Amino acid sequence: MHIVFAASECVPFAKTGGLADVVGALPPELVKLGHEVTVYLPFYAGVRERLEKEAGAARSGERGEGDRGDGEWNWAVRSITVPFEHYNRFVGVVDGGKREGVQFYFLDCPELFDRRELYGPKGGEFPNNWERFGLYCRAVLEATKVLGVPDVFHVHDWQASLIPVYLRTTYAGDPALNKAGTVLTIHNAGYQGWYPPATTQRLLFPWDVFTKDKLEQFDTFNFLKGGIVFSDMLTTVSRKYAEEIQTAEFGEKLDGVLLSRAADLRGILNGVDYSQWDPATDGHLAAHYTPKDLSGKKECRADLLHAFGLDKVPETMPVIGIVSRFATQKGFDLVARIAERISQREVVVVALGTGEPLYERFFREWAFRHPDQVAVQIRYDDALAHKVEAGSDMFLMPSRYEPCGLNQIYSLKYGTVPIVRATGGLDDTIQEWYAEIGDGTGFKFGGMDPEALLGAIDRALEAFQDKKGWTQLMRNGMARHYGWEGPAKEYAEVYAEVARRRS
Ligand code: ADP
Ligand code: GLC
Repeated sequence: MHIVFAASECVPFAKTGGLADVVGALPPELVKLGHEVTVYLPFYAGVRERLEKEAGAARSGERGEGDRGDGEWNWAVRSITVPFEHYNRFVGVVDGGKREGVQFYFLDCPELFDRRELYGPKGGEFPNNWERFGLYCRAVLEATKVLGVPDVFHVHDWQASLIPVYLRTTYAGDPALNKAGTVLTIHNAGYQGWYPPATTQRLLFPWDVFTKDKLEQFDTFNFLKGGIVFSDMLTTVSRKYAEEIQTAEFGEKLDGVLLSRAADLRGILNGVDYSQWDPATDGHLAAHYTPKDLSGKKECRADLLHAFGLDKVPETMPVIGIVSRFATQKGFDLVARIAERISQREVVVVALGTGEPLYERFFREWAFRHPDQVAVQIRYDDALAHKVEAGSDMFLMPSRYEPCGLNQIYSLKYGTVPIVRATGGLDDTIQEWYAEIGDGTGFKFGGMDPEALLGAIDRALEAFQDKKGWTQLMRNGMARHYGWEGPAKEYAEVYAEVARRRS
C-alpha cells in the first residue's frame, strides 16, 4: 500500500516534541513491512538549512544576501496554486529524496514557512497558523495529484487535520482523490487549532461544515474536530489515552465527538527508535553501558553533572533528570508547589527544557535558590537530552496528561528510573516497583496532589538506598522493549481496514 504521512514535524528535519520522533521512525518501519511511504513537511527555515548543509556549505556560501538559492533545489513541482478567499498563494514542492526507503517532499511557501519557529515564539502561536496549516493541508492534496495519490492519507494532529475535511468536502468530486482513505492520529488533544468562524470562508470551505456535528465548537472553527469527524479511522498513541479522551476530564471538550467515533478509534502505543536511544551505542555519551555492565553509567553521570556545573555532587546523592517542553501539560506546577521540600532531600535536580515563560522562570529561580542542588538549561539541545537520559538516576515526568510520552520509555532503556503520574502512556509503560518481589520499573502517583508526587519521589529516594534492589529495578527497565515493529504492524492493520472500507 502507498501511505502519505502528513505532519508538521519529523526528525531529523523539524522537531519540538515527540510527534517528530514518531513521524521520523514509523515510516521506515512500514517500508520494512513492504509499504510505500511518502512524507510531506513544510519547508521551514530549519529544513532549508539542513538541506543546504547536506548539499555542501560551499555552494550556499557563494550566494548573495537574501538569495534563498531557489535555483538549486530539486523541484518536484515548481508551483501549486492554493486559493484563499481573496487571493492565491503558490507552493513549490522540493524533492527531498529517499531516506531509509521513505520519500520526502517539502512544501515551500516562504512567506508562511521560511521561519525559525514551527508554530510561534516561546511556546506560543503565530496568529496566521490557520492560514499556514490550512495551506499545508490543501497543498498536500494537490501535490499528491501530481506525485502520487496514496491509498491512505495518515494525518497527524490538528495541523494536518483539514486534509480529511478537504478530501470529503471541497474535493469530494475529484476523481483522482476520492478512493483515498484517511487515518488521523491524535498525539495531543490539548492542541486543536481554534480559529474564528470566518476561517471557514477564508479557507474556502462550504459553510455547511460549520455546524456542531462537524467543525464548529463553541462558535469557533476547530481543525482537530474536523479531522475527528471526517477521518475514516482514528488512532491515538496509547491505550489508556484512547480511553481517557472519551471522558470529560481528558477530552478537552472533544470527548463527545470522540465517544461518537469510539468504534473507529484505536490506541496504538508509540515505539522508540533504539538506533538513536540505546546507551550501548548512543554517540552523545561519555561512555557506553549495557544491563550486564553498568559501569559506564557512572562516567555518564559525571559528564552530565559537569555539563550542568554541578561537579561537586557526592556519589551518594541521586540525580533526578527532566527533559521537557515547559508546558502546563507537563505538570511542573505540581513540582513548583513542593520545590522547596524536594530541595530539603538529599537529591540533585537537572532540567533541560524550553517553553512557557512561567515555567522557565520557575526553574531559573529554583536553581538560583539552590545552586548546588538544582541546575537548569533553558534551550533545545538533543545531545544534552541524551546525556540527561544516561547520566541521571531517576527521570521525572509528573504530566497532568500524557498521550504517550517518549522520555520515560527512553529512560527505561538507560536504566534511569521513571517517576511519573499514572496517566495515558505513562501509566501504560511504567509499573510500580515492589522491592519485596523485585518487580516493577518505576514509581507512580495518582491524582493532582503535589503531596502524592512528593510521596513517589520519597519512595524512589528510599529505594535508591538499597543498591542491590536499585540495580534490579534498573535492569527491569532496561529489559523492556518498545520497538516500532509491533506498532507498525498495528498501523498496517488500520490502513488495511480503511482501504477495505473505501474499496
Ligand atoms: P511531547 O511530545 O509532549 O513533548 P514526548 O515525551 O513524547 O513529549 O517527546 C518529547 C521529545 O522531545 C523527546 O524526544 C525529548 O527528548 C525531546 N525534547 C523535549 N524538550 C527538549 C529539549 N529542551 N531539548 C532536547 N530535546 C527535547
Ligand atoms: C505528543 C504527546 C506525547 C507523545 C507525542 C508523540 O506531543 O504530548 O505524549 O508521546 O505526541 O506521540
